Order: sequence, then C-alpha cells, then structure tokens
Amino acid sequence: QDPRIAGISSAIRVIPNFPKPGIMFQDITTMLLDTKAFKDTIDLFVERYRDKNISVVAGVEARGKPNKLPGEVISEEYSLEYGTDKMEMHVGAVEAGERALVIDDLIATGGTLCAAVKLLERVGVNVVECACVIELLGLKGRERLGDRPLFVLVNAT
Ligand code: PRP
Ligand code: MG
Repeated sequence: QDPRIAGISSAIRVIPNFPKPGIMFQDITTMLLDTKAFKDTIDLFVERYRDKNISVVAGVEARGKPNKLPGEVISEEYSLEYGTDKMEMHVGAVEAGERALVIDDLIATGGTLCAAVKLLERVGVNVVECACVIELLGLKGRERLGDRPLFVLVNAT
C-alpha cells in the first residue's frame, strides 16, 4: 500500500450516529484542511489518471441536486443509504464519446455513483473508472457498479 494512504486515512474524521443513529459518518472536511493529506489525495488521483486519456472529470456536486440546474437536464433517481434522491445533469455538459473519470468522496451503497455513471452513459460517454476517497465495505456498492472499475484510497466499515 502507498505510504501516503495512512496519513490520508487518519485525517478523515469519523462521527458516530450522524446524520442518523447507527451511521458512522466519514467526514472528509478534516482531510481537506490537512495540507499534506489533501495534497497526497490529489497526487494519488493525478498519478493514476494522468496517462489514461481522460477528457472529463465528473463530480457529484450540489448543482446536480433536483431543480438546481437552469438549463435542460436529464435525471436519474437513486436510493441512498439513508433515503432517496434524484441526480441531474445539463444536456450538453458532456459529449458522446468522451472518456470520463467519475469522482466522489465516498461510496456506500453505490447508488450515487451508479446514478452518475448512468447519466453519463445515457449520453454516450465512456466511463473509464470511478474513484472515491473512501469505500464503506459491506454495503456492496462495488457490486452495484457491475463491471465498471472502482478505485478507492481508504477502506472503512
Ligand atoms: C454521500 C456521499 C456520497 C454518497 C454515497 O452523499 O457524499 O455521495 O453519500 O452513498 P451511496 O454510495 O450509498 O450512494 P449524500 O447523498 O449524503 O449528500 P452530499 O454529498 O450532498 O452531502
Ligand atoms: Mg455525496
């Protein structure tokens, strides 16, 4: 294992029973504030993907929540570890044939990443890989992605 992983892992704060009893919330904001851990995280992703001909890095972010984008959108409903949600993407945000890396902070059930992948694939984008800082083991998120490769830095339970 890369020697930088331990530092990244220890910079992630774990908050028990948030946002609901029984959930061990993995908080990456403490890692983002740790200059070395954040740089190491970025470097590990850059090192892995720099020579993979990625044309777009797709992130799941706040404007992808329902009714937040002003233009024409396509949307996917998905279920979460706690609740359900909908994800939206602007039509025209990406072009058919592009090579995408899909990034999120964490994979739990895989519903979020799956929805992101489906949005991209519906418009003809080739999802090269999904990448997360943290994988919550035991929720089978990786299985939900099927054959699509998933790269993670830190495993958690
Ligand atoms: C969290 C996390 C991932 C998702 C993973 O986001 O940031 O995006 O859950 O869960 P899954 O693999 O079961 O889909 P959340 O939906 O809580 O919202 P946020 O990122 O806007 O805080
Ligand atoms: Mg999220």
